[in-house]
Amino acid sequence: MTDRSEFVVVANRLPASVHRTGTGAEVWRRSPRGLVNALEPLLRKRSGTWVGWPGTSGTVTPPESLGRIRFSPVSLDEHAVASFYEGFSNSTLWPLYHDVVMPPAYRRSWWDSYVEVNRRFAEAAAEVSAPGATVWIHDYQLQLAPAMVRELRPDVRIGFFLHIPFPPVELFMRLPWRTEIVRGLLGADLIGFQRPGGAQNFLWLSRTLTGAAQVPKQVGAGPLGGAIDLGHRSVSVGSFPISVDAGTWDTLSRDPRVRDRAEQIRATLGNPRRVLLGVDRLDYTKGIDVRLHALGELLREGRLNARDTVMVQIAIPSRERVEHYRLMRRAVEREVGRLNGEFGAVGHPAVHYLHSSIDQRELAAFYRAADVAVVTPLRDGMNLVCKEYVASRHDLTGALVLSEFAGAAGELTDSFLVNPYHVEEVKQAIMQAVTLPEADTRSRMRRLRDHVLDHDIDHWATSFLDELATEHVKVAT
Ligand code: G6P
Repeated sequence: MTDRSEFVVVANRLPASVHRTGTGAEVWRRSPRGLVNALEPLLRKRSGTWVGWPGTSGTVTPPESLGRIRFSPVSLDEHAVASFYEGFSNSTLWPLYHDVVMPPAYRRSWWDSYVEVNRRFAEAAAEVSAPGATVWIHDYQLQLAPAMVRELRPDVRIGFFLHIPFPPVELFMRLPWRTEIVRGLLGADLIGFQRPGGAQNFLWLSRTLTGAAQVPKQVGAGPLGGAIDLGHRSVSVGSFPISVDAGTWDTLSRDPRVRDRAEQIRATLGNPRRVLLGVDRLDYTKGIDVRLHALGELLREGRLNARDTVMVQIAIPSRERVEHYRLMRRAVEREVGRLNGEFGAVGHPAVHYLHSSIDQRELAAFYRAADVAVVTPLRDGMNLVCKEYVASRHDLTGALVLSEFAGAAGELTDSFLVNPYHVEEVKQAIMQAVTLPEADTRSRMRRLRDHVLDHDIDHWATSFLDELATEHVKVAT
């Protein structure tokens, strides 16, 4: 078949979303995510295809291609959305992999659906891949797909990257289907994690659960990579910290229209002396409650004053039918209301809370408008908001308060690193960030920017794909 692809990306979501016009017609818009931008040149050059779910259980008809990326949609019916997506992916794996911040639920029917949906993604990938193609599978929703693709198409080269944290072994061992997941991942030639610790945990689990031997090999960024010897072939394992499209954020933030909009935002906020900013999907892992708690205490103790310091929290709606997310939203909104009741004045809330999606240009304006970005997840694979913020501060102003449990903490060591479970430490860091002398702010931001602009998403994609290209099937001796 001539229209098969040499490069295939497999991810739970297609990089596009559907919107309905007033007449009910479908309009498809490309997602502005960094991953799509990073992979687009390759997808174009190698007539690539993206295998993914259109994001709704209803009947929709995604275009065959968008922005010259070919689509291979995998549809999910209502049952699959409830059991594969909301169930096993987001009520079992998500909380388990985020250090059990919420209790995971283990249901056999969800697992059955996970197996079935992974098979459908694998079949779609096998179908569109040209002989010897590169197939890059992404994230926790699709951990069985590498072995399934290999079974169907032993000729292709398979990479897998986990965007969320890989948990400590004691937590992973709780999973009733732990061996199946490890074997599913070992179907890949190269498995990438965000942090060296994730790679190390996976190597230990592979040895322990499959009896395979580990062989030394330098893989990826950290020192803790290696390879698993399966006899007939080996699987490389390493860390590849993901990043953002730093150049685009830098350019956007220099745009005079973004600058004007940032000024307008500050004026609307009442031109306070300091603006603190949080931007997150509304997820219980993000520690939105942590920063609200810290802010509340600082206001109560009079160390901050709501007349001259405001917080903006943008909370992007997410997974709204999952119980933990509903509870989280209620708790956050109650706390925002409480803080505004206690410290706000008419027309001057202490916390400006937006529960909505936001486009990239508007977000760039918020990044420019903020003096301090407060990023306090209890656990996060990487956290891209902090890297986007840094990439947007071309004038070297602005400070970053960052949880040490975000993957980015390993790289952004010039931020104010905090343990989000230690409220005094979070408060202290916010105070340091808002009172930092200008020269220190500039030198910290310069070092942060140097790192993020050098290690952008292209760097990430290239280092992963270069490593994948050097993998060779081991000939048994
Ligand atoms: C995280 C995951 C992604 C996921 C995204 C949005 O970043 O790593 O795989 O796509 O959240 O979540 P959603 O459930 O809406 O796809």
